Amino acid sequence: MPKTGSTARPAAPKKNTPKTPDAAPARSSANSLPVRSESALEIKDNRTGKNYSVPIAECAIRAVELKKVKTNNPDDSGLLSYDPAFLNTASCRSAITYIDGDKGILRYRGYPIEQLAENATFLEVAWLLRHGELPSLKEYDQFVHDITFHTYVHENMRKFLEGFRYDAHPMAMLNSSIAGLSAFYPSARNILDPTERNISIVRLLAKTPTIAAFSYRHVKGLPFVYPDNRLPYVENFLSMVARMSESKYEANPVFARALEILFILHADHEQNCSTNAVRAVGSSHVDPFSAISAGVAALFGPLHGGANEQVLRMINEIGSVKNVPKFIESVKSGEGGRLMGFGHRVYKSYDPRAKIVKNLADEVFKVVGVDKDLEIALELERIALSDDYFVSRKLYPNVDFYTGLIYRSMAFPTDFFTVLFAIGRMPGWLAQWEEMLLDKEQKIARPRQIYIGPAERPYRSKLKAKQTL
Ligand code: ACO
Repeated sequence: MPKTGSTARPAAPKKNTPKTPDAAPARSSANSLPVRSESALEIKDNRTGKNYSVPIAECAIRAVELKKVKTNNPDDSGLLSYDPAFLNTASCRSAITYIDGDKGILRYRGYPIEQLAENATFLEVAWLLRHGELPSLKEYDQFVHDITFHTYVHENMRKFLEGFRYDAHPMAMLNSSIAGLSAFYPSARNILDPTERNISIVRLLAKTPTIAAFSYRHVKGLPFVYPDNRLPYVENFLSMVARMSESKYEANPVFARALEILFILHADHEQNCSTNAVRAVGSSHVDPFSAISAGVAALFGPLHGGANEQVLRMINEIGSVKNVPKFIESVKSGEGGRLMGFGHRVYKSYDPRAKIVKNLADEVFKVVGVDKDLEIALELERIALSDDYFVSRKLYPNVDFYTGLIYRSMAFPTDFFTVLFAIGRMPGWLAQWEEMLLDKEQKIARPRQIYIGPAERPYRSKLKAKQTL
């Protein structure tokens, strides 16, 4: 019988942010010791001549402080900050992932991504992201056991997947199946119960590869392969994807390790679009399956996780190295769309994950031979890194630029690439979801707006006018 439940518990709720802003640490660098700050932003409102002193802590001001800045008009509810797409707004305080976009630094809980990619396992990183510390051997073994024995999905989930058309996009299947898990585990709605939270987290980490592999087999018209709990996490996933009549599937160790590293590289990336979606939806206190499915939906988009798929489609369209300069010109003129796999909201230098992925590609190509499109990718990168359009906008390859070539070399179909990203991102979404829930400062996410529609006007039905004609 599979063992249900787990002894693992989330880290104790952190004490909340200091209420007095000047008691909070300044955010000078992730390495520096907390520095008490007593600085303030002095604001003069030239509408009223009034002065305001807004405390600065951790290089931020609290936007609610701006509410105090108001005119004498009784209808004035105070100043808003306007920041479409959160270009300069911190939506939370988080202890999970640190990025310095200018220096190309990425750390999970303080550990450099390069060291984790080289030495850690994906489940070790999943534990680290959630609990803040690396697991002891005992904790790790228990965690691996719990994950391994929750990989099976209810048979009705299998039937649900079989209901999709043969050409369904696997991200659409993954997204709806993860949302569907909510119907199988109604007690998961008790999100404030640590035991329920824990088992939901275990289930999501364990079942996502199973659902992903089932969606792959469904599209291919192949029989579903059930989890083989003798295998480690990544090998088990590869077995469910590729096993045919073998009694035990043996994955190519280079592929298995490459996939494990790619999962680690994708495991978290602080407040990106999909994580923000998970936090925002989770802030309504919905169950974790529903909240995480919002993250999968966001990841599907071509400007986010869907970019890895688009990179390969773009390379296919370019077709040959000799067409690269013309394609680059079309991107610059705006006619050819964007150079997919380039640019990042946060990284304004080389994405550290892209560096690791590029080296990883070499390892995989040693096994399967050089991908036919690698030449095109290298030429795109070479030209883009020396062209003023890209240099002046600080557009560098992001993690998605080379991942697609690796996935294709491992025989994954193009529309499956983002599913692989989703498996990797799952621990980050879950850690961020739980951090949000335990953060006493968080409330239901509800941004403000600046209303620009019509002023009040009387209702005059146009339908009535039509009827009387
Ligand atoms: N190709 C060509 N031009 C680009 C690109 C690109 N890939 N990315 C940005 N630009 C240009 C924009 O046209 C804009 O130019 P302008 O100032 O002349 O108008 C300027 O660079 C700034 O672009 P923004 O859209 O303002 O940058 P933003 O931070 O909002 O977007 C994003 C970041 C979405 C990643 C963008 O760079 C992009 O679309 N890249 C391609 C898609 C991609 O690879 N996404 C994966 C990101 S990584 C991830 O999610 C895992």
